[in-house]
Amino acid sequence: MKRVYYITIIMISIMYLGFAVKTDEQISDEKIDKRIDAILSKMTIEEKVGQMTQITLEVISSREGEASSLVIDADKLKEAIVDYKVGSIINTGGAANTLDDWQEIITSIQDAATKETRLGIPVLYGIDAIHGANYTLGATLFPQAINLAASRNKEIVKEGGSITAYEVRASGIPWNFNPVLGMGREPLWARFWETFGEDVHLTTEMGKAYVEGQQGKDISDKTKVATCIKHYMGYSVPKNGKDRTPAWIPERFIRDIFLPPFAEAVKTGAFTAMVNSSEVNGIPAHSDYHILTEILKGELNLKGFIVSDWEDIIRLHTRDRVAESPEEAVKMAVMAGLDMSMVPYDYSFYEILVKLVKDGEVPESRIDDAVRRILLVKYMLGLFENPYPYTELSDGFASEEFTEANLNAARESITLVKNENNILPLSKTSKVLVAGPTANLLSVMNGGWTITWQGNNEELYPKEKHTILEAVQEKIGENNVIFREGSSFEEDINSAEAVKMAEKVDAVVLCLGEPTYCETPGNISDLALPDAQLMLAQELAKAGKPIVLVMVEGRPRVINKIVDHAEGIVVAMLPGMEGGRAVADILFGDVNPSAKLPFTYPRNVNGYMTYDYKPLEVFDVNEFNPQWSFGHGLSYTEFEYSDLKLSGKNFSVDDEITVSVTVKNIGDREGKEAVELYITDLYGSVTRPNKQLKAFEKINLAPGESQEVSFTLNSDDLSFIGRENTRIVEPGEFIAAVADLQAAFYLK
Ligand code: GLC
Repeated sequence: MKRVYYITIIMISIMYLGFAVKTDEQISDEKIDKRIDAILSKMTIEEKVGQMTQITLEVISSREGEASSLVIDADKLKEAIVDYKVGSIINTGGAANTLDDWQEIITSIQDAATKETRLGIPVLYGIDAIHGANYTLGATLFPQAINLAASRNKEIVKEGGSITAYEVRASGIPWNFNPVLGMGREPLWARFWETFGEDVHLTTEMGKAYVEGQQGKDISDKTKVATCIKHYMGYSVPKNGKDRTPAWIPERFIRDIFLPPFAEAVKTGAFTAMVNSSEVNGIPAHSDYHILTEILKGELNLKGFIVSDWEDIIRLHTRDRVAESPEEAVKMAVMAGLDMSMVPYDYSFYEILVKLVKDGEVPESRIDDAVRRILLVKYMLGLFENPYPYTELSDGFASEEFTEANLNAARESITLVKNENNILPLSKTSKVLVAGPTANLLSVMNGGWTITWQGNNEELYPKEKHTILEAVQEKIGENNVIFREGSSFEEDINSAEAVKMAEKVDAVVLCLGEPTYCETPGNISDLALPDAQLMLAQELAKAGKPIVLVMVEGRPRVINKIVDHAEGIVVAMLPGMEGGRAVADILFGDVNPSAKLPFTYPRNVNGYMTYDYKPLEVFDVNEFNPQWSFGHGLSYTEFEYSDLKLSGKNFSVDDEITVSVTVKNIGDREGKEAVELYITDLYGSVTRPNKQLKAFEKINLAPGESQEVSFTLNSDDLSFIGRENTRIVEPGEFIAAVADLQAAFYLK
């Protein structure tokens, strides 16, 4: 008997010790669960539904004009927080606020939430900080995602995410509606520039880096925020290219291409997700139980919650007509898995859902699940400990160090795609004509989500930042620069005069592209660059001086009619607030360009193909003939690739495959190079892409310097979604390719 007794004592001790030595993290998770249970058990149905209700700042405030400051309306604030128990507020109230104003706004809101309500649950404030804290005046505004992807520099993406998190938190806001993880595979799409481009591996890696930068190890850190991966999913490939129009994506393609970036982001710790505003295969995403609950919450195990996009629950009734009443729309969305409604202008969602629960139409268990998820994020953010702004962060806001990081990101994000006769870099003693509609504006380099939603109020941009023209003037002296716009985006202005001026200079810097736009207002029906701009280029070419074309745009506008007129072409896309300086640094050689296109630049407006095209797309008369392919990018130096080696010839599914290559800088100046490994699966049970990016690393080499770069792949990197819609690996022959080197290997 004694022996059994001792064993029991020993076992209890081990169990106690086991509990006692649990990491803080485990105890805090359990502690948080207990705190959520405790508060949930006290909540009324109204209080629970209030947590699921999100309104925009405009509902509780007023602002005279975009430039004036915003005023919180105390009565409307009380109505929202006390009467309707709103748990989340978003947006900017029409235009960016100063850092001080934001801290005041958030303080007023949290005062109401924590001091005037029965349970004192803090409000979760959310904002779009898409390329920096773009709704806080003076913030560090980075290149847009399409540019970050062109940099192929994960560290730059992570650092940009971290700086953005700092400046968003400094504004008192702990939740950012970013990153966009849809892929840019439809160049007409108005939100193409919000993506990391067309490739699933590049998007996955850049999305992961961004989430790591934004969230760090612990989102309660006062310099970190919770991310919101979006727009889940299949939003980025509208069949007719127009934002918020139907996409048709077979489940096999969804799982093969569109799901992986979201899966990796959830694995990396992303807490929230925002739903695709549109429909896939005839099913509005906001009503799709399969993708929201079965996949995102089930297979991917999202820990936090799912928020709707703008007004998209009621639009199930008013627009999509899959719900015959507002009540049916709310029930359909909540039962599909939506946890929070971005209503955002009124309290209809609150009133309808309270009634649906009381009438037994929506089980309270679904509400409890949603509220538990929302409270988890609020606890993990530390809002119950401190919901107020950390005003001490103001000191580091928009610091010189942040600005330097931004300038570096811009420099590494601009792609040199053509450099005939080494026209670039231009000499600093050149006399140049700067022309074109994107030469002397800051807005065109930043795009949407900049100070205002559309980003098109140039008056509100910081006067101290440089346009391309101003940066060129600073670089080579105003006396050496003539400026003639020549044309607006759509019309001739003074092209004849510009041509006359061109005869007086050594070279022309022609800045073409797009005005700023955001979301549906940016819809177009013709990807070709407008005629006025094409004609300006054609006229300027008659002056017989070398032309350097700078494309400042959110999507790759077709320019096949003028490519031959330009000896140098730079695809700048949306390089952010330091873009002017970065373009000038590259044009005049202070920076050696190192970016590579994250998308395939179309030659024609029709017949768009991505680089990972299928065999029959190049069969018979069909060909892949883009203006420039995904992965194209030039340097002012030259890199020689040699000695491609594999760690074997035959591999089993459990083996790791190491691919190494030597890269040498054989030019006369230092340069950065993104080394990219592509894999071709020669045969498969479904048609396989001609090649797919599987790994990349950016290195820096001095003239004459060599470096061996190694990549390690496993069978998951060779997998794909098969005919059964499940991820599989098949034996067979594969090709590993780096630059112009290839090596075959076999998977047994
Ligand atoms: C918009 C966008 C979404 C954004 C949200 C809040 O409609 O689709 O990306 O986060 O509304 O501004």
